[in-house]
Amino acid sequence: MLTRMGKPFRIALAGLGNVGGGVAQILLTRGAELAQRAGRPLELASVCARDRNKPRRADVSHIPWIGDPLALARSKADVVVEVIGGEGEPALSLIETALAAGKPVVTANKALLAAHGARLAATAEEQGVALRFEAAAAGGIPIVKGLRESLIAYGIDAIHGILNGTCNYILTQMEKTGRAFAEVLSDAQARGYAEVDPSLDVGGGDTAHKLAILSALAFGVPPDVGRMRVQGIAHITPADIHFAREFGCRIKLLGIARRTAQGLDQRVQPAMVKLGTPLADVDTVFNAVVAHAGEAGPFTFEGRGAGEEPTTSAVIADLVDVARGANGPVFGRPAKNLRLLPAAPPEAHVCPFYLRFDVRDLPGVLAEIAGHLAESEVSIESMIQRGRSPGEPVAIVMVTHECAETSVAHALRAIATSDKVLGPPCMIPIEAG
Ligand SMILES: NC(=O)c1ccc[n+]([C@@H]2O[C@H](COP(=O)([O-])OP(=O)(O)OC[C@H]3O[C@@H](n4cnc5c(N)ncnc54)[C@H](OP(=O)(O)O)[C@@H]3O)[C@@H](O)[C@H]2O)c1
Repeated sequence: MLTRMGKPFRIALAGLGNVGGGVAQILLTRGAELAQRAGRPLELASVCARDRNKPRRADVSHIPWIGDPLALARSKADVVVEVIGGEGEPALSLIETALAAGKPVVTANKALLAAHGARLAATAEEQGVALRFEAAAAGGIPIVKGLRESLIAYGIDAIHGILNGTCNYILTQMEKTGRAFAEVLSDAQARGYAEVDPSLDVGGGDTAHKLAILSALAFGVPPDVGRMRVQGIAHITPADIHFAREFGCRIKLLGIARRTAQGLDQRVQPAMVKLGTPLADVDTVFNAVVAHAGEAGPFTFEGRGAGEEPTTSAVIADLVDVARGANGPVFGRPAKNLRLLPAAPPEAHVCPFYLRFDVRDLPGVLAEIAGHLAESEVSIESMIQRGRSPGEPVAIVMVTHECAETSVAHALRAIATSDKVLGPPCMIPIEAG
């Protein structure tokens, strides 16, 4: 049965960079297909960026140009797409103005949602308009919709995600080439896989933004990176990556959020995952999320987490949904009901740990380390020490039995004071995935 086309859905697009350029191109070239799906034509009504003369991915010379983002937010559009980026201005005022004017908003801006998501969600819901952000977490992977609309019957117990393609690319390259972090990072920068200032990616901040969004969807908490422990990957050495393999694991930067009896455990940290589990095989710039949905079991979402096309794909999906009239609570529950959960204490984090000690090869060093671990009730499952070079630096690596992170940390503080130990010990959890 043919359905009648609705009136055009007018889109005001703020930002014409990687994502905005892709969105404009799809709107201008795939109009007929999108109209079928939306039940009405999607019309690119106006665009905004900084430099009108910059060459663009799509020819938008015939589309009305509005130089001021706030004027764009107030323009006669049915929806505003914010793909300028940044936690602050002008993106924030643009979204606030659009919502206040009763216009739905589609954004890809994870930094902004992680900082202001709960407040913006409340405004959107008061105004009765949609605020959609599929592209803000894991790019093209439909994890936002998955958590908001699909995996709801049994609730979510835990999310484990590889959420930053730059870090995953660096760790994959370190494993492939045996090269050190700094060398692989500068290569990634030269290839455009890492930013000139890579700190938000390699320091774990970008993963934290995405995890904050996913936690809100999964657990009904306001997005809040301040309640997470965040560690990056700069301290991971080629030796760690090599030893991980020997222990049947690979190292990934994980964003983890899980319910425990003592509260919500939210962490970003490098972790070992066992070979053969879903996250272990996610390589290069790919992202993946395993969502443990109670009795429904674990679900793995995998795909491209960044880049023009995957991100465009997510923005367009949101636009079609909004054009069809989809609305509802922004984070799956009314924003006024989002509640902080107590943060799980570090002792709630129990798993086996990989430990590396760079030590001087002297008699008694191993006994000293083992003694401190035993005092903290940390027992060792396996250990590797390669070669002998008396008096010279060598690495001792161990895998512990399951124990509390606090016990390991306590032992490591004592071990670090030894004059035989060179530099801070490295501790990496071995997560179930
Ligand atoms: N790139 C990805 O793979 C990816 C993936 C997921 C999410 N995201 C998110 O998507 C958003 C956009 O990312 P992007 O990579 O497309 O960024 P981008 O390439 O830097 O593009 C930003 C766009 O915003 C415009 N802009 C910047 N400041 C402006 C201002 N004051 N007024 C008007 N326009 C302004 C720029 O104009 P000019 O072009 O004239 O300079 C540019 O067109 C960010 O929130 C990002 O986190 C990106």
